[in-house]
Amino acid sequence: MPAQAHVEPPPVDSTSVFKDDIFKGKVLFCTGGGSGICKAMTEAVMRHGAHAAIVGRKLDRLQASANDLASATGNQCLAVQADVRNPKQLQEAVAKTIEKFGRIDFVICGAAGNFLAPISKLSENGFRTVIEIDTIGTYNTIKATLPHLRASKGSYIHVSATLHYKGTPYQVHVSAAKAAVDATSAVLAVEEGPHGVRSNVIAPGPIAGTEGMDRLSAKGPDAKNFAWATPLGRYGDVKDVANATVFLFSDAARYITGQVIPVDGGCEHLRTEPLPYPQSVLDPDAVAAMIKPRL
Ligand code: COA
Repeated sequence: MPAQAHVEPPPVDSTSVFKDDIFKGKVLFCTGGGSGICKAMTEAVMRHGAHAAIVGRKLDRLQASANDLASATGNQCLAVQADVRNPKQLQEAVAKTIEKFGRIDFVICGAAGNFLAPISKLSENGFRTVIEIDTIGTYNTIKATLPHLRASKGSYIHVSATLHYKGTPYQVHVSAAKAAVDATSAVLAVEEGPHGVRSNVIAPGPIAGTEGMDRLSAKGPDAKNFAWATPLGRYGDVKDVANATVFLFSDAARYITGQVIPVDGGCEHLRTEPLPYPQSVLDPDAVAAMIKPRL
């Protein structure tokens, strides 16, 4: 009988590991908090006592998520519409958060854009759009929140990726954008450490059930051949990222800044491609059916 690989059990809730009230009186400001990984990160921080403001482009979806988060956690959640590419809208979102809660302690720079496209088929505007959302959006979020984090001696988490540790085909836009996010966090940590502000990066790997995973996964009958290989035997869960978030914002991580923490079950060390290689770059049209169509 062949040896069976270990499959890591599902994650536990952060409240079974960390005390309920560790973030009581704290306020989180999270871009991209209306859905997916960032919504789960926000929920976990709120479950430990924080109030939150979630920021995104679609107010209906945000408001529904804010209602979910408040009823799931018993703490307050403000939905604020802003596009992270627009510094003025972000400043207004921060002003509304301060008006409602009086402070910001934690920031998650999570708003991101992604799709699969090779350089040969990616327009300048497509490349620029992802850089503007991920990299410039992160910078704009830092600029708008920094005075408040200095005041609270707060902490940033930037949501990045592991794609740029290697040359991942069809991901030049995201790889360039996330490399810049990692670099930005390191400079922020060094410049703001003396002011009492920490900055770290969480780099999620394949996290099941998320929009990002849906966009990056191969589609169609051959898709199963391109599943990510995971040393810990399963795809990640949003709770895996949420638990790392609670740790990094907690006092247990007080001496950790300027770091990039992959939450990927060890996947970064395996070279798995989402599409057949080199066929995907030799003939992009041949793999078109494996790529999520534009909405
Ligand atoms: N393949 C190739 N190019 C694409 C594309 C795709 N699937 N989707 C968008 N683009 C290009 C567009 O063609 C356009 O370039 P063009 O003007 O040269 O044609 C450019 O990207 C901007 O697209 P647009 O739809 O106008 O931008 P947007 O601001 O409305 O959307 C995206 C931004 C493209 C990143 C969109 O996918 C998005 O909003 N995503 C947010 C959610 C998300 O990606 N979540 C997962 C995060 S991991």
